[in-house]
Amino acid sequence: MSTLAAQNPTPILSLEGITKDFPGVRALSAVNLNLYPGEVTALVGENGAGKSTVVKVLTGIYQPDAGLIRLHGEPASLSTPNDAAGMGITAIHQETVLFDDLSVAENIFIGHAPKARFGMVDWNQMNDQAKALLNRIGATINPTTLLRDLGIANKHMVAIARALSIDASVVIMDEPTAALSHKEIEELYLLVEQLKSDGKAILFISHKFDEIFRIADRYTVFRDGELVGDGVIGDTNSAELVELMVGRAVDSVFPQRTNELGETILCVEGYSHPTEFDDINFSLKRGEILGFYGLVGAGRSECMQALFGITRPSSGNLIINDEVVTPKSPADAINHGLVYVPEDRGKQGAITALPIVDNIALPSLKTTSNKGFVRMAQEYALAQQYTQRLELKAAALDQHVGELSGGNQQKVVIAKWLATQPKVIILDEPTKGIDIGSKAAVHAFMRELASQGLAVIMVSSEIPEIIGMSDRIIVMREGRQVAQLDNQNVSPERLVREAAGITESSAA
Ligand SMILES: Nc1ncnc2c1ncn2[C@@H]1O[C@H](COP(=O)(O)OP(=O)(O)OP(=O)(O)O)[C@@H](O)[C@H]1O
Ligand SMILES: [Mg+2]
Repeated sequence: MSTLAAQNPTPILSLEGITKDFPGVRALSAVNLNLYPGEVTALVGENGAGKSTVVKVLTGIYQPDAGLIRLHGEPASLSTPNDAAGMGITAIHQETVLFDDLSVAENIFIGHAPKARFGMVDWNQMNDQAKALLNRIGATINPTTLLRDLGIANKHMVAIARALSIDASVVIMDEPTAALSHKEIEELYLLVEQLKSDGKAILFISHKFDEIFRIADRYTVFRDGELVGDGVIGDTNSAELVELMVGRAVDSVFPQRTNELGETILCVEGYSHPTEFDDINFSLKRGEILGFYGLVGAGRSECMQALFGITRPSSGNLIINDEVVTPKSPADAINHGLVYVPEDRGKQGAITALPIVDNIALPSLKTTSNKGFVRMAQEYALAQQYTQRLELKAAALDQHVGELSGGNQQKVVIAKWLATQPKVIILDEPTKGIDIGSKAAVHAFMRELASQGLAVIMVSSEIPEIIGMSDRIIVMREGRQVAQLDNQNVSPERLVREAAGITESSAA
């Protein structure tokens, strides 16, 4: 029996019967949730279960349709984000809204900058405080850098620093580690420990069970907007949590390859970039899944973006079907049957102000003559086919992508590119932010398309996914290709060693 349950402390914050409706969907249905001082409560549930909606209700972004929020036992009204911050509730959101044209320090302190005399912003103090906050989370980012010059992981560190710049008693983290590297994740765990010992209540949303069991004290499970279980983490296990989330047991076995590999379809020869990667060489066969493993910052995404024509290599050739193509633009790459599904779906992925069906069908059915019935039916059929396989959860196919949950937006981006029926697809962290049940669906679909002759390059930082899905694995470190491994007998240890550059003797 856990000591936690026995103590039965008073919550800092409670949700009582909170309901939130959107057109066509009840995102939250009379949910209860308590957050206790000095404790981490993990909130888990499938994509679209209502997790981020709770975060938005608690930060004054959405108003609940029914129910009560209590802070230190007193009813609290959180009508605006400023109210929430003023009452000591801060959040690191799943889709962070930061400003590319402002500096790191400005992004951290926008709305509550330290003031000098006459109400002017005290720039020196702001930069110093930003630096101190970033140091506290182990990030070495210059506070005067423009946000646009940072990579996705560092942008996320800025968002975390921003949340910490408000001295809060409730700290909410919505999938905070999805964009971070191993080292940054460790720093974040340390930070969570520190927040706990400072007596703060933490709500932690994640699809990663290993981290939930590592840092959480309690758990709460949502399914379709309803609370379906909660308790002390020591009293449950991952199989039980999955059952609660999905309503059934989930097969954790990766789909095996049953097809023969076809002819070589793609060759990369001596691909180099002045700063990001150097001398990358590999080939890929039809029906094959080639995994790219490495630490965040190893140059994998940069290399893929160059193959797709987003950036230009300084030297090297890309050969598709025996033809040297070396794309000058993404359009060029697409014309040659190569597509890239980016990791950062916000920036390069879906058009959030357009319906799901348009997002998926537009790149595939380019012949937009007149939008007659036949064409519309075609678009819906296409969107239907792909979203069903990826277990997309949406009210309707004409719903705007911006209204979907984070994981479901990710599925739209994958569907959109698969629907173009490419010869080669590059998937960059394909299951990031996707729940455990849908993950299995994405993996099964990837394997099935490969068996039909699609060649797949998969960049992933998740070792089980890399080992479970890849036929072959290339490891990159500091912009170089350091190993090419046949997946027959690769161990997780070997991958970590190669990625970190630890030789067997120095590891001993
Ligand atoms: N602004 C909105 N308009 C319409 N529907 C919305 C809006 N925001 C959320 N929803 C719907 O509410 C439901 C819950 O979404 P929410 O973002 O809370 O899910 P989530 O649990 O955070 O999922 P994920 O794991 O994918 O991030 C979904 O069906 C979503 O489509
Ligand atoms: Mg979410």
